[in-house]
Amino acid sequence: MESSTDFKDAAVVVTGAGAGIGAALARRFAALGARVVVNDLDADAAHAVAGEIGGTAVPGDAAGEQGVAELIERSRAALGGRIDVYCANAGIAAKGGADAPEDAWSASWDVNVMAHVRAARALLPEWLERGGGRFVSTVSAAGLLTMVGTAPYSVTKHAAHAFAEWLSLTYRHRGVSVHAICPQGVRTRMVEESGAAGDLVLRPTAISPEAVADALLDAVAENRFLVLPHPEVGQMYAGRAADPERWLRGMNKVQRALEAVEGEAGGSAGQQTRA
Ligand SMILES: NC(=O)c1ccc[n+]([C@@H]2O[C@H](COP(=O)([O-])OP(=O)(O)OC[C@H]3O[C@@H](n4cnc5c(N)ncnc54)[C@H](O)[C@@H]3O)[C@@H](O)[C@H]2O)c1
Repeated sequence: MESSTDFKDAAVVVTGAGAGIGAALARRFAALGARVVVNDLDADAAHAVAGEIGGTAVPGDAAGEQGVAELIERSRAALGGRIDVYCANAGIAAKGGADAPEDAWSASWDVNVMAHVRAARALLPEWLERGGGRFVSTVSAAGLLTMVGTAPYSVTKHAAHAFAEWLSLTYRHRGVSVHAICPQGVRTRMVEESGAAGDLVLRPTAISPEAVADALLDAVAENRFLVLPHPEVGQMYAGRAADPERWLRGMNKVQRALEAVEGEAGGSAGQQTRA
């Protein structure tokens, strides 16, 4: 079982761990002596990471009601009947605005938000009975600020942050720790596919997935909710709260810069961006 900073033998589940940030989190927990379940929709990727770290691959969907229930049941079986740490990391970035198709919006709600709600629903009885458990939510700076060019991502990441906050304030006195990881650009496939908006906002300050794992471990050591691998995001978040009009004007400048780039490239605003 884990204490606040000791993950030796801890039972850890990481969703979307076949690549990117999830793989870095799985590797880090394994390096600290944890027993790790590596989940991903991509079964080959899940098996590859699990094989590398001596973990257990439990491939499959980590978002839908049935998928989450099966993942948690199979993870408990693989980890000796308990889960100490659950990293709700899998996420998707659908492009577009209000014009994004219904299925892009509903998939974003499912993977970026309801996956977390469903996992918490399944984990809380065990954690409250034991008086301990750790829920790690990979949100995004887009959940504190916003991301130009992608409304489904920005909106659902705000909701993921809201749910993590709610969990933290509701259960912290009962031994449940919650962390919300809110990076800007991280060098993963998601950024590779983020197009002009990513070039503008994410790539210039993109960090490694390992740096995200470092930031999480620092937050764990301090028992801190908010994990800011890009510290400047904290200043922007404070600036947004202090003067929303100024913040919106600044973000609109970014939007117009994006439209200029897309205009040069022959694209149209809102059609070319992913984050
Ligand atoms: N890369 C960034 O710049 C960045 C910044 C902020 C937040 N994030 C967040 O980090 C998380 C991880 O993203 P990443 O950058 O490592 O991207 P990634 O695309 O490299 O990895 C995401 C992984 O999640 C898996 N996945 C997607 N849907 C799934 C589902 N329903 N069930 C199980 N697995 C699923 C994918 O197969 C993939 O392997 C996401 O929540 C993302 O929103 C990323």
